[in-house]
Amino acid sequence: TSAVKISPSILSADFSKLGEEVRAVDAAGADYIHIDVMDGHFVPNITIGPDVVKSLRPHSAKVFDVHLMIAPVDPYIEAFAEAGSDIITVHQEAGAHTHRTLQKIRSLGKKAGISLNPATPETTLEYLYEELDLILVMSVNPGFGGQSFISSQLRKIEAIRNRIDALGLDIDLEVDGGVNRETVQSVISAGANVLVAGSATFKGGPSKYAENIKALKGQ
Ligand code: DX5
Ligand code: ZN
Repeated sequence: TSAVKISPSILSADFSKLGEEVRAVDAAGADYIHIDVMDGHFVPNITIGPDVVKSLRPHSAKVFDVHLMIAPVDPYIEAFAEAGSDIITVHQEAGAHTHRTLQKIRSLGKKAGISLNPATPETTLEYLYEELDLILVMSVNPGFGGQSFISSQLRKIEAIRNRIDALGLDIDLEVDGGVNRETVQSVISAGANVLVAGSATFKGGPSKYAENIKALKGQ
């Protein structure tokens, strides 16, 4: 359906020309730009920090969907807000005080998101719904692009969709990891409305981005 948004993960882009890559997926029909921040501690990989987000900001007016896979996260929230993030998503597993962290993100005028690793149950969200603009279900173990979709996460997506609707809240339900032409329909059917796509967007190079994004939207 056309209501589904695509958030290309620049983790699969060419890091030697990130600005160009962001402009290319923007022009190709991306709805959000998904930026994966990894610290080599919370996840076994290292990517980029707030200065890179700031440098990318002039290259696109699309929503910067910043996924922080770092612990501790609180000391860096302000820097990512000032760098031009629109949505800041933190991990439920990254600290003991996610409720406070989400309030801090909103107090800086940004949208607040929480992400659940594959092993974390959706029931951990119960006392956070009022603080949330986005829920990100990880359908791979975070750290790398190009991994296979973990299908047990479909029933987590369904359960969260039901809870959001029952509460009548306006919260994006985003899925990250292994979303491609084969898995996309099951993710949409389960109730997701924002799809992260790294390898599925960037495969084939810039001349394919528009076609890749359209295919994920079922167009
Ligand atoms: C994984 C990242 C993802 C990753 C997805 O830790 O959070 O955003 O880039 O890559 P694909 O879409 O290739 O699975
Ligand atoms: Zn991500």
